[in-house]
Amino acid sequence: MRDLFVTCPHGFEDLLQDELKSLGVEKVFPMFCGVYIPKTMENIFLANYESRIATRVLWPIAEFSCSGKEDLYANVRKIKWDVFLSPRQTLAIDANVQHPTLTNSLFAALVVKDGICDFFRDKTGVRPSVDTQNPDLQLNLFIQKGKATLYLDTSGAPLHKRGWRTDQTEASLHESLAAALLMLTEYCPEKNILCDPFCGSGTFLIEAAWIATKTPPGFLRKRWGFFNIPEFEMTAWKEWKKIRDERRIPLAKGKIFGSDKSRETIDICKKNLLKAGVPEVDLSFDEVAYYKPKVKPNFVITNPPYGKRLETSDLLLKQLETFLDNYLEPNGEFYILCPQEASTDLFTRKPQAEFSFKNGGLPVKLVSLQ
Ligand SMILES: C[S@@+](CC[C@H](N)C(=O)[O-])C[C@H]1O[C@@H](n2cnc3c(N)ncnc32)[C@H](O)[C@@H]1O
Repeated sequence: MRDLFVTCPHGFEDLLQDELKSLGVEKVFPMFCGVYIPKTMENIFLANYESRIATRVLWPIAEFSCSGKEDLYANVRKIKWDVFLSPRQTLAIDANVQHPTLTNSLFAALVVKDGICDFFRDKTGVRPSVDTQNPDLQLNLFIQKGKATLYLDTSGAPLHKRGWRTDQTEASLHESLAAALLMLTEYCPEKNILCDPFCGSGTFLIEAAWIATKTPPGFLRKRWGFFNIPEFEMTAWKEWKKIRDERRIPLAKGKIFGSDKSRETIDICKKNLLKAGVPEVDLSFDEVAYYKPKVKPNFVITNPPYGKRLETSDLLLKQLETFLDNYLEPNGEFYILCPQEASTDLFTRKPQAEFSFKNGGLPVKLVSLQ
């Protein structure tokens, strides 16, 4: 059976490879939208609990050639599902299928569900039910080039759901994406004083604070998909987790701060900081034109609002540049996250590097300007 597949957004595979290696995984093979790592319980714990970049950690439980619907059903039904699930529990199936006759991924997922439910009905008379929101067992089906792989999702909820977000705010970044961008820019808590003047819900601020405090990204999560793996032992997991949690250190004051012009958003951001255990992050309720940070940052990373017509942001970008002129330390670093087609010509600072990727399906770029 194949290795674990640790997924990430396309473009971040090399960064994920480096991260997993630095966490102690010896063999990491980058692929499209993820990396393969050896299938061990240690790696499952490590990639789920300590990777800031990974989205999911998938454990292959079956692999078979698949000529169509009947074949898929028969192969799924053969699997001993009672090893992974009891009929009283719930399941959900995500499918990603490229096949000449199975053209609809949702339909393929239904075939898998039928195979699992019929397995239980025959054996016990009871069938598990589907819960797409909070399932006990999350499965992923991939079919490509006539080959089907069924994965047990050892993460459960996707890993960007760290657990510190209290309420939704507009246009918030995924936690793992913000962390990945901080790692890409080589944010260094020992030498950087970080500011986000359009902080919104605080995603850059909190992810930076968790890097600085060595807080594992899985610290607040209570449930994991790997609880359903037959080899899983709760005592071993608790001991493993305790060692990681004990590495946390307090956040030094005055090292991370931000501002936003929306009172409601700042209130949510404050709640998020509390939940994340980093209330030391300093927040202001200000427009960027009036924001006066107490300390001068040497690292500004931000994603300002961009309307549908990009030119509507011109004034705001000018205000941002004035903010940088007034407060960013000489030789400080500045990174702006913006739509791919947005121009940075308005800034007198010149682009040093650009990294393009997709955020929620939209092409975006992180540009370093100096
Ligand atoms: C794209 S969102 C930032 C999202 C943030 N990165 C997050 O993950 O939650 C842009 C933020 O800029 C704020 N904003 C808009 N105009 C502003 C201004 N003139 N000064 C400061 N903040 C502003 C909005 O309230 C919004 O929260």
